[in-house]
Amino acid sequence: MRTPFIAGNWKMNMTAAEAEAFCKELKELYKKQGEVKTAICAPFVRLAELVEYFKGTEIKVGAQNCHFEDSGAFTGEVSVPMLEELGIDYCIIGHSERREYFAETDETVNKKLVRLFASSILPILCVGEKLEERDAGKEKEVVGAQIRKDLEGLTAENVKALTIAYEPIWAIGTGRTASPEQAEEMCGYIRSVVGEMFDAETAEAVTIQYGGSMKPANASDLMAMEDIDGGLIGGASLKAQDFNQIIEF
Ligand code: PGA
Repeated sequence: MRTPFIAGNWKMNMTAAEAEAFCKELKELYKKQGEVKTAICAPFVRLAELVEYFKGTEIKVGAQNCHFEDSGAFTGEVSVPMLEELGIDYCIIGHSERREYFAETDETVNKKLVRLFASSILPILCVGEKLEERDAGKEKEVVGAQIRKDLEGLTAENVKALTIAYEPIWAIGTGRTASPEQAEEMCGYIRSVVGEMFDAETAEAVTIQYGGSMKPANASDLMAMEDIDGGLIGGASLKAQDFNQIIEF
């Protein structure tokens, strides 16, 4: 059985003081020992602090991006070996904001996934369709193509350890959540594509999260769906109480 996985995506938020207060509060609230996997994906400059704050707890730390090369002339970038030195566990790859504003493509996403699977850090791969693609009935075509390109060259063992976050772009930060049925249909579809690319055992093992305006009020309905194994939480991961309520779905 797949263990539920709730990950926060802080995006470009949280000063040092805000992060410290959040971590203190979440540690006090956190009661789901052993029942869920939990992580906070923070800006690079917060990672070392978070690893320190969450030491001795089950709460893991993740980055929001990395480069696929190990070193070199890539001003402003951070490599996988640098992240490994911090002792973090996860890295978000291919978030729609990176695809839209930072020229992330399925090709660079694929290179980053390949590089991360040669490290101790596990990727959380984001996929999802735009509103106009959904309105045109093309959501499966778009997301299926992303999955096929992004997972190219990975092994079944890699994919069993992978988390895929299905995040319809029209639901991110908009307050407009996909209905549990819409989210389930797409998460089930992603699982079927993984099954076609690899095998039934890999499809059964891969963790699939829903992301897009997930909050305490809708988390349990989304989490009740068979193919939804967790959530990637943006806005609601900035308040420890809200985030903990989602963990307790
Ligand atoms: P949201 O963001 O929860 O604020 O919609 C989710 C995400 O972008 O990962």
